[in-house]
Amino acid sequence: MISFHNKTALITGGSSGIGKALALELLNSGCSVIICARDSQKLNSAKDELITNSACESGRVFTLPLDITDFDLVQIKISEFLEVHPTPDILINCAGSAHPGEFQDLSMDKFHWLMDVNLFGTIHMTKALLPAMQKRGSGHIVNISSAAGFVGVYGYTAYCASKYAVRGFTDALRSELRLNNIQMSLVFPPDTDTPQLVYEAEYKPPITKALAGTAGILLPSNVAKTILKGVAKSQYIIVPGLENALLYHLSNILGPNVYFVMDRMVDSAVKSIKS
Ligand SMILES: NC(=O)c1ccc[n+]([C@@H]2O[C@H](COP(=O)([O-])OP(=O)(O)OC[C@H]3O[C@@H](n4cnc5c(N)ncnc54)[C@H](OP(=O)(O)O)[C@@H]3O)[C@@H](O)[C@H]2O)c1
Repeated sequence: MISFHNKTALITGGSSGIGKALALELLNSGCSVIICARDSQKLNSAKDELITNSACESGRVFTLPLDITDFDLVQIKISEFLEVHPTPDILINCAGSAHPGEFQDLSMDKFHWLMDVNLFGTIHMTKALLPAMQKRGSGHIVNISSAAGFVGVYGYTAYCASKYAVRGFTDALRSELRLNNIQMSLVFPPDTDTPQLVYEAEYKPPITKALAGTAGILLPSNVAKTILKGVAKSQYIIVPGLENALLYHLSNILGPNVYFVMDRMVDSAVKSIKS
């Protein structure tokens, strides 16, 4: 088991939801955290909340206001950061967005937005930090995909595309970085009680709502604990939630037959709306 004590983690999306819960768990394990997001005010209030809730010294929480979709900006901010701080031991690419809707109702802007944040944001941060990790000869990169990164969910064409892409990117990079002593983890969280899920509820088509109605919603603190347990064990695939883990294993066992199961779920969601 790897200890987080006296380590440093940079967490994108660390001002909210799963990212903030990860920051709290890491602080409680003796790790310093750099939380990164666009909104400085939200970052500062998350910092205060983290210091209060973890009872850690204020010198262990740093904020990094940054839009991860802008690669030039990411490069500038990360190199400025590395001039005054040591290279983080862990990079958690957690910042992300979702916007459900049936394909024909989703504008091209939505597809570009989700690819920009979920896929390119992850690639930008990895590109900017990896050379420093390689120079040091160690590091752990944790990419947050989603259950929508291993099953195609009705109403999530844009989000699934971006989260499957995160999976493809991470799988290929893992195979390269293995040779450099840089660890990777790929996380597939299920529905989790965060501001993102509240936002999604506004836009879910009725069939997607009926499908989601059958699944449980996890707490961000529980998702964060499972992620960090997996990271500490150098686990590559991390699947929080029992039901979600079963679905992940089932989808691997079933192979193409998984579409039959998904179709029956959609059929019964359609039936439940009509009745
Ligand atoms: N909640 C779920 O049910 C669920 C399920 C599976 C996977 N996930 C994934 O888990 C991750 C965290 O989700 P969450 O539910 O915790 O979301 P959340 O509470 O909405 O937090 C999203 C975070 O990302 C930041 N962010 C968004 N766009 C950004 C950008 N362009 N540059 C930098 N930061 C940006 C936000 O801050 P600013 O707005 O200030 O930038 C915020 O800190 C995401 O990748 C999400 O797709 C979530």
